[in-house]
Amino acid sequence: MLIAGCSNGTHLAGKIARKLKASYSKLRVNKFPDGEIKVRFMSNVRGKEVVLVQSFYGAINDCIVEVIFAAETAKELGAKKVFLAAPYFPYLRQDKRFKPGQCVSIEVIGRLISRYFDKVFIIDPHLHRETKLSHLFSIKAESLTSNPYIADYIKKNIKNPLIVGPDRESYKWARKVAEKIKCGHVILKKKRYSGRKVKVTLNKEVNVDNKNIVFVDDIISTGNTILESVKNLRKLGAKKFNCIAVHGIFVENALEKLRKANVKVVTTNTIPNNVSKIDVSGLIAENLKK
Ligand code: R5P
Repeated sequence: MLIAGCSNGTHLAGKIARKLKASYSKLRVNKFPDGEIKVRFMSNVRGKEVVLVQSFYGAINDCIVEVIFAAETAKELGAKKVFLAAPYFPYLRQDKRFKPGQCVSIEVIGRLISRYFDKVFIIDPHLHRETKLSHLFSIKAESLTSNPYIADYIKKNIKNPLIVGPDRESYKWARKVAEKIKCGHVILKKKRYSGRKVKVTLNKEVNVDNKNIVFVDDIISTGNTILESVKNLRKLGAKKFNCIAVHGIFVENALEKLRKANVKVVTTNTIPNNVSKIDVSGLIAENLKK
């Protein structure tokens, strides 16, 4: 097996290769002045199972073209199988034609990736209206969860936690993590008005006395979901706020805004950032072994 670190995957690919005692090679990617990219394998892929590790954040569309070019090249050069390990996989939130004429991105990305890979591994995919990866991909698609890693982090680092899921979909992380560490949890109600505007409300009595509030969610993007939730719980007297998320996208100074609101934030390293303290390389390595 050859683990290939793509532009946004090197922070995990090397660790995965070490854990599997497999070979590792960084995919060489260069950009031409006009924006086109060129990719090159620096190791022989012939006869090997090649795993492309790519996290789709930042220049997401470039990341997609990069893995398609790399997958096709690997096959042309004789790779036995080509897998995609995507710590963070994009375009899953547009899961419905909200307005006439819109692209349902989740379906298109699933079909596109299925054409080029033999199997895909995704950490905590954002599945809401569409609930199964098997509906999106025609290849084998494994959904991996970082919940045990998050639960372990909370157990070791946060005393007297009350786990709070900021919206209905977050139960897959918040409730599951709370069950693992055997502590209380509450799920809030969110209404989204736009990419930036959300309103969060409490739908039942919550006792926050002496509790360390721990928001658990899959994605933090603008941070507004968590900031809105903090406002609500502060009104009830909550004082200590933590937020543990899988994917820390942090656009528009989100991390800074959360810090100013006295929220201690930690994420997994599906996307590397200053607070990505929970390492999930083992999760991918374990599943590649199977
Ligand atoms: C959406 O349902 C996700 O689970 C997150 O709650 C959402 O993406 C967070 O976005 P933001 O940080 O921009 O409020």
